[in-house]
Amino acid sequence: MAFTQPPLPFDIKALEQYGMKAETFEYHYGKHHAAYVTNLNKLTEGTELANKSLEEVIQISFKDSSKAGIFNNAAQVWNHSFFWNCLKPAGGGAPTGDLAAKINQDFGSFEKFTEEFSTAAATQFGSGWAWLVDDGGTLKVMKTPNAENPLAHGKKALLTLDVWEHAYYIDYKNARPAFIKNFLDKLVNWDFVAANYAQA
Ligand code: FE2
Repeated sequence: MAFTQPPLPFDIKALEQYGMKAETFEYHYGKHHAAYVTNLNKLTEGTELANKSLEEVIQISFKDSSKAGIFNNAAQVWNHSFFWNCLKPAGGGAPTGDLAAKINQDFGSFEKFTEEFSTAAATQFGSGWAWLVDDGGTLKVMKTPNAENPLAHGKKALLTLDVWEHAYYIDYKNARPAFIKNFLDKLVNWDFVAANYAQA
């Protein structure tokens, strides 16, 4: 199997007291994410893409409309692996150091960043993702539909939130704004975001 599903970077019950039940991960990690990996392997088996990196598969398939199914599964594999790393127990709140200074510089304040990020996450119609990205040296918020991600658009992802219904329905039913607020208040792994920023 060319493409694999990395282990969750925390215990499946680790976020229960921070607003995400183990049941969410049983489905979201154990069923949805796993299915994208299985589908990607089936779709690429025996083709030249099977020997490429996941990032290369995303960039190649995004430019080729005949490979839309491969793009959707490859990007969803990458997006979810990235998203799990954006979460940690007792996370959230504000970042520190160089990243905090850059957010203040590019958004005006941390509060302005959270407003912009929350609005992007809440207003992505239907399924998709909200992101903090490094776009050629400037930090920006973006939202993408379905499986699309910053990598496909030549931008560096620093942070993401999955706003597909499957991400929040078990914990929050239809209340996407409550899921967004909980993510920002209690879950964001700013150490991971700062490490991504340092590599940008
Ligand atoms: Fe998801």
